[in-house]
Amino acid sequence: MVRAQLQKKGQNLKDLYGDIKKDMDEVEKELRLFSQSPNKLIAEISTYLFQKSGKRIRPALLVLCSKLFDYKGKEHIHLSALIETIHTASLIHDDIIDNSEFRRGIESVHAKWGPNITVLLGDYLYIKTIGLSLQSSYPQVVQILTDISARMIEGELNEYYLSGNLNVAEKDYLDIIDKKTASLFSAACQIGGVLGNATKREENILIDFGRNLGISFQIIDDLLDFTGDEKTLGKPVLSDLSEGRITLPLIYTLNNDGKANRKRIAELLKNKDLEKDAQEKILDIVKSNGALEYTYQKAEEFSLKSKRTIAQFPKSIHRDSLALLPDFVLKRKK
Ligand code: FPP
Ligand code: MG
Repeated sequence: MVRAQLQKKGQNLKDLYGDIKKDMDEVEKELRLFSQSPNKLIAEISTYLFQKSGKRIRPALLVLCSKLFDYKGKEHIHLSALIETIHTASLIHDDIIDNSEFRRGIESVHAKWGPNITVLLGDYLYIKTIGLSLQSSYPQVVQILTDISARMIEGELNEYYLSGNLNVAEKDYLDIIDKKTASLFSAACQIGGVLGNATKREENILIDFGRNLGISFQIIDDLLDFTGDEKTLGKPVLSDLSEGRITLPLIYTLNNDGKANRKRIAELLKNKDLEKDAQEKILDIVKSNGALEYTYQKAEEFSLKSKRTIAQFPKSIHRDSLALLPDFVLKRKK
């Protein structure tokens, strides 16, 4: 594909998924099937959850990685839907932990049904997914899914444990986002490879690609919490600050701005339920010292690593689509 066409293809997800549209439609159908249940509450909340389509990056990664090896079977659809369901289950739990009232432009599940029902529904979706993965003719898949689920929980736990801790280092932050976010990206890529009978070396390349892409994705997520537009994002901004989560822009500020601003931030963050005014004051400091630029550069670094990693595979339309995702992730506004 010529350069101009490739660039256009990378501008939005519809173009980017163009070559796998049929498969992605099948994944959507499968997700709707998952929402069906004789239990009224499960059916109602699942339908609510899957009505607003997310970016579907994780299923697309699985599909594209399987096709990199010319996979001709059908399991990639089912497993992609399972990966998206794990993601959904993790988000509804995350919204309780983060006190987030909105997701994808609509009320979060816990804001609508309360935390008790939400915890149970997340557990239900998660355990259903693992149960369904047992049907796979690739036994390794179950191991991958359970391993990364444990890593996601570990990442989320560490993040919560370190919230409000101004001494959190960049490496702690990177470790947290590697676990809570990048592990699911890398699992999606690895499972694609498993389906395509990739060699161990090829599987490792896919894991590495997904990991770097996922880290870049989460750094941008945390940057958008400072710079994004609430309406476009479909979720609140400055929410990390208000919940005391110390993400990269703030870590950079705390370590590189002067002592006076560090002290000011520490004072402001002492208040639980940070007022809008205090949030704005911290935002001004973060904006003034190059922290936002630094954060973007870090995301770029990981995005570049993922691009270089995927370039190790021979050229194909699917490799080209995968190679466009790192740029999409960097430039996204939501
Ligand atoms: C979003 O981060 C949260 C995650 C990427 C992971 C959440 C993981 C868990 C809650 C562990 C439970 C896992 C399973 C498998 C049930 P964020 O809060 O930075 O992003 P946001 O702004 O979109 O909320
Ligand atoms: Mg959150």
